[in-house]
Amino acid sequence: MSLQTTTSIWDRPHGYGLVSRALHWLMACLFALQFLSAIFHLIDRNLAITKTLWGVHHALGFILLVLVALRAVWGLVNLRTRPPHGHGLIGLASLAGHLALYALMIFVPAVALLRAYGGGKGFAVLGVQIFEPGTRNETLMEPAQLLHGPAGWALLALVAGHVLMVFVHKHLWREDILGRMTHGRQDDARLREPATAGHVIGQN
Ligand code: HEM
Ligand code: HEM
Repeated sequence: MSLQTTTSIWDRPHGYGLVSRALHWLMACLFALQFLSAIFHLIDRNLAITKTLWGVHHALGFILLVLVALRAVWGLVNLRTRPPHGHGLIGLASLAGHLALYALMIFVPAVALLRAYGGGKGFAVLGVQIFEPGTRNETLMEPAQLLHGPAGWALLALVAGHVLMVFVHKHLWREDILGRMTHGRQDDARLREPATAGHVIGQN
């Protein structure tokens, strides 16, 4: 495997730059913590571990929303030079998968913050007041009452599918797309091997 690491901050067709890679892996770690807090919350709210993890669920959710906003802007700035999604149906499915990840990464915390706002108790993160206490508004709370939990679990399922696809790419289609997100470059040695039937490798 090639050990060459891309140090450019910008995304390139052969791999993601430092900023996209840092945001991707930082957020993956924070999401892992966030899902862990939700899983323990579902299992037993009275466990000591649940109380510890749940203590950061709200603040972490807010931080994740700020990070995804930065990531979306950075993705748009780099849109023309990012690694391609591939051709045909597989390319379309990959694009749709990434768009769905963004939609849920924004929807899940946004709708919860709307509920917190509607709750009227105010909301602070790390001592910074995000919004002041106000009047309770049940209408603003309804979307999250209905959808925050289910959409959160849907995001977890989508992430599981996303990770599965990375391994399908590697072992079935012999494309090292993981390299794009680890050292910012697809493994060229693997790319030189013949691709399997009809699946074109999106590398320029
Ligand atoms: C990307 C960020 C977030 C993810 C992935 C996420 C995920 C989840 C999940 C899966 C549940 C269901 C847990 C269960 O069934 O017991 C949940 C519940 C909850 N979350 Fe979040 N959450 C996020 C952000 C937030 C934010 C920003 C807030 C508050 C401002 C929040 C407040 C709550 C509350 C109060 C519950 C319990 C009530 C309910 O299920 O709707 N979450 N969260
Ligand atoms: C909460 C966890 C995760 C989320 C929300 C997530 C989300 C995303 C998104 C939205 C992209 C598109 C590029 C971008 O805009 O940054 C992406 C790309 C990628 N992710 Fe993840 N990811 C997660 C975890 C993982 C994990 C654990 C792996 C490794 C097994 C992984 C491997 C990759 C790879 C290889 C790409 C590049 C795919 C390509 O260029 O076609 N991701 N991820």
